[in-house]
Amino acid sequence: MDSFDVGETDRLLTTTRTVRRRLDLTAPVDLSEVRDALRVALQAPSNSNRQAWRWILITDPDVRGQVAGIYRRAYDELASPTSVAAPSGEDALDRLLASTDHLARVLDQVPLLVIPCVLDRLAPDAPTRKAANLFGGIYPAVWSLQLALRTRGYGSALTTMHLAYEAEVAAILGIPDSVTQVGLLPVARFTGDTFGAAERAPVEEVSFSDRWGEPLRS
Ligand SMILES: Cc1cc2nc3c(=O)[nH]c(=O)nc-3n(C[C@H](O)[C@H](O)[C@H](O)COP(=O)(O)O)c2cc1C
Repeated sequence: MDSFDVGETDRLLTTTRTVRRRLDLTAPVDLSEVRDALRVALQAPSNSNRQAWRWILITDPDVRGQVAGIYRRAYDELASPTSVAAPSGEDALDRLLASTDHLARVLDQVPLLVIPCVLDRLAPDAPTRKAANLFGGIYPAVWSLQLALRTRGYGSALTTMHLAYEAEVAAILGIPDSVTQVGLLPVARFTGDTFGAAERAPVEEVSFSDRWGEPLRS
């Protein structure tokens, strides 16, 4: 039978964090390693196995600067304690804001920005199923990319802030009107040795048996 090192796999899955303050802005990124990570990510599931995705890897400092400027503008306009409210109290919220602020300030210096795109657009009144297919058709691959980057020594963060000005970034990057950007991932080598698991609500609090509200049976 196919066997995995469950402990090591669970460690990867439970300790791959959103990396902002620990992005190493000075270390170079080996694009062949990023390409390997992307190759792993492309094994992810997608709606009807369409694999209707494109990935833009931005390393040109001038282009990074333009895109980062748009992210910063969106962040300054939209990020507020309520928009990023962490579920676990004031301290956690302060830490999160300090971290998101930092990222917004240094984004232009992050050596690699990845923009995952879907070859489709949602109609304004699109039903949930279509939205689920569009965004859900690529987010598993995005997360796989983050995991595969982590095992290669790279930190990343899935961000969506710049989508408030998606069209401006599309114009800079030459992305066609028929395509949707779903996020922006800063990618860099991470500083420090490793990461820990984060606090999460217990499974019993967020899961039900058979019907909404029914406690989970063991
Ligand atoms: C759909 C989505 C959108 C996000 N957008 C942003 C963003 O715009 N900026 C940012 O700094 N982090 C963003 N994040 C990262 C979350 O803040 C982060 O996952 C959360 O705080 C939990 O931290 P952890 O990933 O380290 O466990 C986003 C995450 C997801 C899943």
